[in-house]
Order: sequence, then C-alpha cells, then structure tokens
Amino acid sequence: MEQCLREKIAIVTGAGQGIGKAVALRLAREGANVVVADINPKTAEQTAEEIQAINRRALACHIDVANVAEIQPMIDCVIAEFDRIDILVNAAGVAQTGLFLELTEQEWDRVVDTNLKGTTFIIQAVGRQMIEQVPEEVKATGHADCSYGKIVNFSSISGRHGRAEQIPYAATKAAIISITQSVALAFARYNINVNAVCPGVVPTPMWEQIDQDRGRISGLAPGESMKSFIERTPLKRAGSSEDVAGVVAFLCSPDSDYMTGQTLNIDGGFEMN
Ligand SMILES: NC(=O)c1ccc[n+]([C@@H]2O[C@H](COP(=O)([O-])OP(=O)(O)OC[C@H]3O[C@@H](n4cnc5c(N)ncnc54)[C@H](O)[C@@H]3O)[C@@H](O)[C@H]2O)c1
Repeated sequence: MEQCLREKIAIVTGAGQGIGKAVALRLAREGANVVVADINPKTAEQTAEEIQAINRRALACHIDVANVAEIQPMIDCVIAEFDRIDILVNAAGVAQTGLFLELTEQEWDRVVDTNLKGTTFIIQAVGRQMIEQVPEEVKATGHADCSYGKIVNFSSISGRHGRAEQIPYAATKAAIISITQSVALAFARYNINVNAVCPGVVPTPMWEQIDQDRGRISGLAPGESMKSFIERTPLKRAGSSEDVAGVVAFLCSPDSDYMTGQTLNIDGGFEMN
C-alpha cells in the first residue's frame, strides 16, 4: 500500500493520542494531508507537528465532538485550508467503567454525546461536503468506478457483546455498528464507503483508565484485566495502535472500494462475528 493516499485530505478525530494518533500518522505516511481534531489542543498540535515532520500538511483543530455547534465551524476551517475532504476517521471516544447501579445521568450523557452523537453529526457534516464533491453524472446514475469518500467509525469489541461494567460505552459501540450500516446505505448512491472497526484491547491512556477502574470495582491488581483479556485472545497478545491503524488505512484506500457497511474486528481473534 505504498503512498496509496497521496494528496487525499483526511480528518481524524481523537488524533491527539492513542489509536487516533497512530491512524493520523499512518494516513500521513500513506501520503494524506491530515486534520488532527481533538478536544485537547496541546496533543493535537503535537500530532500535527509530527505529521509535518514527515513532509505532509497537517492542521490541528480544537473541537469537542460532543458539542454539535462546533462541528460545522471545523469543517469550514478545513475547507478554507484544503478545499475538500476525502477521508473521515471517527476515533474520538470516551469510556466509562463502573457498576450499573451507580451509573449517573451525567456519565451516560458524556459517553453517549461523545461516542454516538458526536460521531453521527460529524458524519452528517462531512457527508454533506463529500456529496458536494461527487460528479453530477454519478449523482444521477449512482454508478461509479471509484470511491468518492471514505468514512471509518470506531466501534469496539464491547459493541459485540454486553459489558456489565461498561453499559453506556458498550451501548454506544453497538450503536456505531448500526449507524455504520445505515449511513453506508444512505451514502451508497454517492459511492461513499462507510465502514467501522472493533479494536480489542490496545494499551492507550483510555485502557490505563479502564484497568484502574476495573481494579477499583473488582479488586484486580493493575494489569490483571489486560492479562485476563490476553489469556482469552487466540493470538495471545494485546493489540497495538499500529495494528489498528493498518486496518483503518486499508479501509481508507482504493483496495477497499467494494466494501461498505462492514465492521472489522481487530482483536487477535477475540470475537469472530
Ligand atoms: N484502547 C482500546 O483498547 C480500545 C478498544 C476498543 C475501541 N477503542 C476505541 O478506539 C478509539 C480510540 O481509543 P484510545 O484508546 O486511543 O483512547 P484515548 O483516550 O487514548 O484517546 C482518545 C482521544 O480522543 C480525544 N477525545 C475524547 N473526547 C473527545 C471529544 N469530546 N472531542 C474530541 N476529542 C475527544 C481525547 O482527547 C484523546 O486524544 C475510541 O473510540 C475507543 O472507544 C479503544
């Protein structure tokens, strides 16, 4: 896949750290210019600087994806800088780990607004821009030989089955699979591909927090939750952010032009459906 994304314009949310950052860097190495969108302006700027250091253009955007009012101004900023959007990767997300009987409305809203509402309305805003870029004859016939946009959403293995200690998180990640299928249908006539990924356990700041919270709830020592996942994973190791970034890069590349509405597990075989 050498430089398969040359001169494409990609937005990656949650690209300040963790898996989103690895995705942003991988897309840049594949030739894309990248908008690094994150609620943390400092880490967004750092990722943008790393991308510029490998001679790709990068724009750091401060955005809280849970605040729908901030989305269109970000898109306007991207268009002013780059004129178009070819790729959207929705990696921004938050987890919440705790006992169901202690779940508060505030915690529910934080997780649902970030993971589900934010992802949905960014897809809508970017989708409008991608559709504007589709040639009229493709709009009229619905037939094209190539893709006119790639959207990749972040679900999780927690979206494949219930999680007693992560009820809002698992609910949002299951809903992302549904949103991916529905928007894939809505955008199919424009040849815009919409797919999702389900990472397994990947050591990132989010996972460190989950490990601490699970320890507090179940009395597990630090690292024990990760160990238990690895024991139940056929490939017997945790995933890396780069493992996930490679699959996302494939879903952003022409090699996946005939795939839409799909959700791929990247989890060492933990889930098989
Ligand atoms: N790490 C894992 O094991 C794992 C497993 C499955 C799925 N995922 C999913 O992968 C994605 C990335 O996870 P990660 O582990 O890298 O997490 P992380 O917490 O390390 O990074 C998430 C990034 O999103 C940003 N972010 C959070 N809320 C935001 C908001 N409202 N607006 C804009 N940016 C915001 C954060 O600032 C951070 O830079 C998430 O969607 C997560 O649910 C992670």
